Amino acid sequence: MKKVLITGIRGQDGAYLAKLLLEEGYEVYGADRRSSDASYWRLEKLKIKDKVKIIYMDLLEDSNVAEVIREHRFDQIYNLAAQSFVHASFKQPILTSNVNSLGVLRILEAIRMFSKDTKFYQASTSELFGKVIEIPQKETTPFYPRSPYGVSKLFAHWITVNYREAYDMFNVCGILFNHESPLRSIEFVTKKVVNSVSKIKLGLLEKLEIGNIEAKRDWGYAPEYVYGMYLMMNHNVPEDFVLATGESHSVKELIEKAFSFIDMYLRWEEKDGRFIALDKNGNIRVVTDKQYYRPSEVDFLVGDYSKAKNVLGWEPKVKFDKLIEIMMTEELKELEKLRRNENTILQG
Ligand code: NAP
Ligand code: GDD
Repeated sequence: MKKVLITGIRGQDGAYLAKLLLEEGYEVYGADRRSSDASYWRLEKLKIKDKVKIIYMDLLEDSNVAEVIREHRFDQIYNLAAQSFVHASFKQPILTSNVNSLGVLRILEAIRMFSKDTKFYQASTSELFGKVIEIPQKETTPFYPRSPYGVSKLFAHWITVNYREAYDMFNVCGILFNHESPLRSIEFVTKKVVNSVSKIKLGLLEKLEIGNIEAKRDWGYAPEYVYGMYLMMNHNVPEDFVLATGESHSVKELIEKAFSFIDMYLRWEEKDGRFIALDKNGNIRVVTDKQYYRPSEVDFLVGDYSKAKNVLGWEPKVKFDKLIEIMMTEELKELEKLRRNENTILQG
């Protein structure tokens, strides 16, 4: 049985990847930083909490990382742990760099010293392309990151490549475009939008407050992307791959799609530099707010996944429309369940 470590086990991708690897017969260890409120809701939701062996490994702690890797000598390590919220990276650039850049180097050093045969996956990102130099973006497109997050991931990307070349290690970088799911954290825009729109539908919220509605992203479905990670790790040569859908949509389109799911159609107006959207009764349902804007933005991303398709046979099936449908259906179901439970408690 192959022994695999997934860092960032409590995150969206960690949960889906753990499920996939358990199904493939791996012994799955999940690295978690200690927390006073250890909630494993994603693993519980996927019904795999009892099957994943949780160990503490904080990427900020050199000796912790080294000891875990020396003790276990995993066959494979997927490094998904990160301070992954771009907006927060402007407020916490040093923490972000320490976790996302040096954290990766800590793992690579430990592998080099104690476990040279461990295969390593690094979670690179389309944020590397930032202010894009080429459309669509592929493996050979030059990088131009636009946030402390993007820059921290640039170091991580190149140090992973460098250790592959310098020490002949099996290291791969998955350059993944945005991928979403019902397990996405609420701070990211897709989940925030589907959550707010579902609440509006249930009468729990009046309007959605949002940032830059003009930014465009290539949004895919997380379970398909973790399958791509798995294919990269099990490919015979260590190489880097882009995973994307090849479609780009604006935040505005995302909002409109989510509202159309609840049969609400919006009319946009611009007032004093802010956008508002009204429903057919003239109620304000969306309003833009500068607090959600970033000091420097990635305006447009769209990926070319043809290398992954040709070499790994990977292809996304869930595109934008289907993705929003999946997320809206699940969000409404969850909120209705919550409301039923609250009513039962109040009546009981
Ligand atoms: P996520 O949900 O934010 O999960 C990241 C995980 O990293 C969290 O569980 C977090 O722990 C953990 N973490 C943070 N700091 C840590 C530290 N010092 N030591 C150990 N663990 C730490 O992110 P995701 O969406 O699953 O993404 C997985 C990876 O892919 C990330 O590296 C992200 O940057 C990258 N990526 C994501 C996307 C995307 O669209 N989802 C696209 C490209 C690349 P807590 O739970 O305790 O906070
Ligand atoms: N989060 C958020 N909240 N984003 C908003 C909002 C808002 O209220 N309003 C507008 N946006 C815009 C952001 O400015 C950005 O242009 C876009 O929506 C997407 O933002 P996020 O969902 O936060 O994702 P991201 O693209 O910045 O980063 C995600 O994808 C990267 C891959 O490209 C994260 O998962 C990163 O970890 C990942 O590397």
